[in-house]
Amino acid sequence: MCGIVGYVGNGNGVQFLIDGLNSLEYRGYDSCGIAGINGEVKVLKTVGRIKNLEDLVPEDLELSIGIGHTRWATHGGVNTTNSHPHQSFNKRFTLVHNGVIENFQELKDRFFKNVNLVSETDTEVIVQLVELFSNEGLTTKEAFLKTISKLQGSYALCLIDSEDKNTIYVAKNKSPLLVGIGEDCNYVGSDALAMIKYTNKFFEINDKEIVTVTKNDVVIENKFGEIITRDTFTPDIKHGEIDKGVYPHYMIKEIDEQSSAMRNILSKYFEDKKISIDAEIVEKVKEADRIYIIGCGTSYNAGLVGRHYFEKWAKIPTEVHLASEFAYNVPLLSKKPMFIFLSQSGETADLRAVLTKMKEVDKDYKFLVLTNVSASTLSRECDYTLLLHAGVEIAVASTKAYTSQIAILSILAYEVATQIGRKMKFNLEKELAVVTSAIDSILDDKKTIKNIANKLFTERNAFYIGRGVDYYSACEASLKLKEVSYIQTEGFAGGELKHGTIALIEKNTPVVALITNTKLDLNTRSNISEVASRGANTLVITLEKLARENDYAIPNVHEDLAPIVSIVVTQLFAYYAATGRGLDVDKPRNLAKSVTVE
Ligand code: F6R
Repeated sequence: MCGIVGYVGNGNGVQFLIDGLNSLEYRGYDSCGIAGINGEVKVLKTVGRIKNLEDLVPEDLELSIGIGHTRWATHGGVNTTNSHPHQSFNKRFTLVHNGVIENFQELKDRFFKNVNLVSETDTEVIVQLVELFSNEGLTTKEAFLKTISKLQGSYALCLIDSEDKNTIYVAKNKSPLLVGIGEDCNYVGSDALAMIKYTNKFFEINDKEIVTVTKNDVVIENKFGEIITRDTFTPDIKHGEIDKGVYPHYMIKEIDEQSSAMRNILSKYFEDKKISIDAEIVEKVKEADRIYIIGCGTSYNAGLVGRHYFEKWAKIPTEVHLASEFAYNVPLLSKKPMFIFLSQSGETADLRAVLTKMKEVDKDYKFLVLTNVSASTLSRECDYTLLLHAGVEIAVASTKAYTSQIAILSILAYEVATQIGRKMKFNLEKELAVVTSAIDSILDDKKTIKNIANKLFTERNAFYIGRGVDYYSACEASLKLKEVSYIQTEGFAGGELKHGTIALIEKNTPVVALITNTKLDLNTRSNISEVASRGANTLVITLEKLARENDYAIPNVHEDLAPIVSIVVTQLFAYYAATGRGLDVDKPRNLAKSVTVE
């Protein structure tokens, strides 16, 4: 979380810093700031959104070198003092940081025992150490290197020195950071989105490298001080993609983009009516005696649906785990495991922790990541990548990445099942095309869905229920609703409600049942009757063929693939419940899009 930017060049970097921070605001948005050198060092910081920062920036401010930061607080409350950039006591060094310094208290006790630091942040220790080591006679680069050698944890850092207006010192470990190449200038940013308006040529930075960025040069050195030559890369994103266009919010734009994302997937993963996935990936999954799908939040929920495909179609035992639990509570692993990571951003720290841990357990383990970001950290660090091709996802609440993840898991499982010799009784390409049209018809019915949402979600609490894969959809539907509307929501297995949770049902409590499996129709309907007779305000979302009066019917699709369709109704419910309450649906409170701290 947190986003950082840097600029050094012949022009005025202020606009880049502001634009970059606006693009990175999805990574954290409780406070922000910029700093740069213009004769003296100028630091502008504020609590709240980048808009507040823009209001602080004098119109005539010119910075040929500058750094910026948008914060998601980890150490210290949300206030101007704790916001970045942070400065050393003598104001010579100024720094922005994304990540968490795990040993900051230890460093504070060791180097600044009886010294009052200005802020409560872990970051300030870094900049004060640079000053301390520079006072010992080291050059800025040496002091920066010595400081980094003392840090434990995750960091992406940009440091400037008031005595040198030509250089930004950059380093990273575990947190993402790229250098963008400009003309007579260079850029630094937490991701390509921050810089794509200005350049499409980037250098990757690896963990523990230190990079010296000047207007005409980028020097990358490894931890032994050896210079590394590296090619630039151009990511598969265009500047226009990150605009909201005619939409009022990114969330609704991205919900709407789900049918085009499905069409993209169909064109990327099918060729001449055959599935087209790297043969080695299919081989590794086929060889596995157990699949471990690992993710967080929405990606974890997509994994639950994916398990259904691997077990039902390919008959490979599959477990789904939360990354944050798996890393520190590793289950008993099978003899030949295959790990499938799900991560829209490809940067999630909890997943990276699992990767590191599992590589330590056995260096021959293989890791596949399904991600939306081709140059992401997990994509670089895993053995194999399958891209979601969903297009940039900016709204904090993940929507199109979720449906794309499920679709690609279905394609992989189907291919594995076919190659293992299982008789698949349906044509997946055709069925996914039916799914795509079904999504389109739901998207065309927004007015009805909005009306239902406005009438249904009037209370403080709400429940989604379902059985089988519909239970997993219920979990995702409730996550979406709670994160953007702040309604207290849970997703429950339909049959489980009566074992305790039914005590929470009061008059008008909304309970939405998802029913997309003919065999479970009556069971879930019994659960809905149980809560309706206790006063709940109920709704059933079901396939046309199973629909009864007052249900919300979605087009008939292959039942195994129905979670890709039914979820779209619930994403729209979440969107309308939040916007109906006047909430900032793209940036819900306390959240950030890319969770790069554990
Ligand atoms: C919820 C949401 C989060 C993410 C989770 C994992 O709408 O977006 O729950 O799904 O933080 O992020 P990725 O998929 O980037 O690893």
